[in-house]
Amino acid sequence: FRFFRWAWRLTYLSVLGSIGYVIYDGYSSRHPDDQFHPDSNKKTLVVLGTGWGSVALLKKLDTENYNVVVVSPRNYFLFTPLLPSCTTGNIEHRSIMEPVRQILRSKKASAMYYEAECTHIDAERKVIKISDNSDIKGDVHVTEVPYDLLVVGVGAENATFGIPGVRENSCFLKEIKDAQAIRTKIMDCVETAGFKDQKPEEVSRLMHMVVVGGGPTGVEFAGELRDFFDEDIKKLVPEIADSFKVTLVEALPNVLPMFSKQLIDYTESTFKEEHIEIMTKTMVKNVTDKYIEAEITRPDGKKELTRIPYGLLVWATGNALRPLVKDLMSQIPAQKDSRRGLAVNEYLVVQGARDIWAVGDCAVAGYAPTAQVASQEGAFLARLFNNMAKTEALESKIQELSSTLNVQPGNSAEIAKEIESTERQLRRVKDIKPFHYSHQGSLAYIGSEKAVADVAWLNGNLASGGKLTYLFWRSAYLSMCFSPRNRVLVALDWVKAKVYGRDVSRE
Ligand code: FAD
Ligand code: NAI
Repeated sequence: FRFFRWAWRLTYLSVLGSIGYVIYDGYSSRHPDDQFHPDSNKKTLVVLGTGWGSVALLKKLDTENYNVVVVSPRNYFLFTPLLPSCTTGNIEHRSIMEPVRQILRSKKASAMYYEAECTHIDAERKVIKISDNSDIKGDVHVTEVPYDLLVVGVGAENATFGIPGVRENSCFLKEIKDAQAIRTKIMDCVETAGFKDQKPEEVSRLMHMVVVGGGPTGVEFAGELRDFFDEDIKKLVPEIADSFKVTLVEALPNVLPMFSKQLIDYTESTFKEEHIEIMTKTMVKNVTDKYIEAEITRPDGKKELTRIPYGLLVWATGNALRPLVKDLMSQIPAQKDSRRGLAVNEYLVVQGARDIWAVGDCAVAGYAPTAQVASQEGAFLARLFNNMAKTEALESKIQELSSTLNVQPGNSAEIAKEIESTERQLRRVKDIKPFHYSHQGSLAYIGSEKAVADVAWLNGNLASGGKLTYLFWRSAYLSMCFSPRNRVLVALDWVKAKVYGRDVSRE
């Protein structure tokens, strides 16, 4: 009897295994030819960047319609909403990266990827100049790529407003390497503060972590940092516990200006409980290797200069234009009044340019520079390009049918019917509505397992903050991760950090 039970179990497992293998095999063979063969009958669509906008476009684009060429110095997509968690090791950075090669592999037709930076767009000649800026360079590391259609999705760089000393002395938080640098520096400050015979005032300076910019990046990082200290560092390095301090410096009267008043108040009171000091109406003017110099506006309107010593400085004051975008704007007279990026029309066409579209943080379409906006714009462009290809195919079909009509007058009724139905299809395909952004809400983690959310709800807005919102924040971002692999890795990282604590080794 036992033998039959085991035999049955084995059969059951092998059937499951076979089904799994068939699914896996089907999945793994669902990729285009390894070779990219440009088809001279198709237009070349060049996509710059592998961020939220460009990847949303690539995900939905029917690559069979174009010779698709992707150019980006980053050969992966980065899930930025969880980047602040990488600064403390709550999430390992590779868990939120998805290789672009993997993304392109699942497309129906092959697309080419070049790991390079686009350094110049020649809008007249319709070519881009690309440069391999990685450490290892071949004999050819600068070349040109011609395009018929170009999508600019290069994002933005960190704004410093030309404030002296910022670039030299601060950490930023935009890319993986930034998060790694912060993680290393936090532990460097801690270990240096614990150095034998370190003077108390130097320990206080080293343990003072200053974040400039009270937008969501600064707030989320400050929250993650406080958690790291309370849950791990304090236990492992108790001798520096009393000196640890986080200060958030913001030029405006409050933090998180894009959230409702109720959630701003909630965040500020939570920060107070977490011992994160918020200095509002404080504008940083100068940065040295050990101090920031800031101008505080007092309630009576008087301005006062202050010097704040720091060990770690994280600069999160928003976005600035990339040189490539500035360069393109300078070539187009219609862009001369645009300050924040490439002005685009309601179809995301760069105003004043021919066959150039822009998405995400580098485009000015009247929305905030967020991942939500960028990915909706990318998906819209994919629909637009798919429709453009269908339109061309239908138009040439109509042309072909019309010429057959002259040659075969006997079949005229049938052909005329087909022309009519193709024209109907064409009208439907051509009727693509302008881009419309649908705001799903804003979410931010504020530390101590609390989050704030302003979510669109039944034609209105639902504001909530606290532990339940934190669970919502976690499940929302987990479900939004790019791939099942990312989802599994992020979930495992959370469990690992909870069970074993964050890894405090300095790389
Ligand atoms: P990016 O995603 O920045 O991608 C730009 C791409 O262009 C990159 O691949 C880059 O390597 C490439 N590139 C750069 N220069 C060149 C060049 N010269 N040639 C070719 N390629 C180039 N938004 C939200 O909605 N919700 C959030 O929770 C959220 N959290 C965030 C957390 C952090 C820490 C940060 C920094 C941002 C967050 N954002 C969030 C904002 C969001 O990440 C951006 O709005 C979004 O990344 C913009 O997408 P993008 O495609 O325009 O640019
Ligand atoms: P931000 O532009 O939202 O905020 C920057 C803050 O820095 C501003 O409040 C500004 O007043 C302040 N500032 C500027 N110069 C200063 C100075 N010299 N001294 C002191 N304060 C100064 O920038 P952030 O947070 O980097 O966000 C960029 C974009 O990414 C935004 O659109 C944001 O909505 C989005 N984002 C969204 C997140 C979310 O939804 N959870 C998380 C992170 C970013």
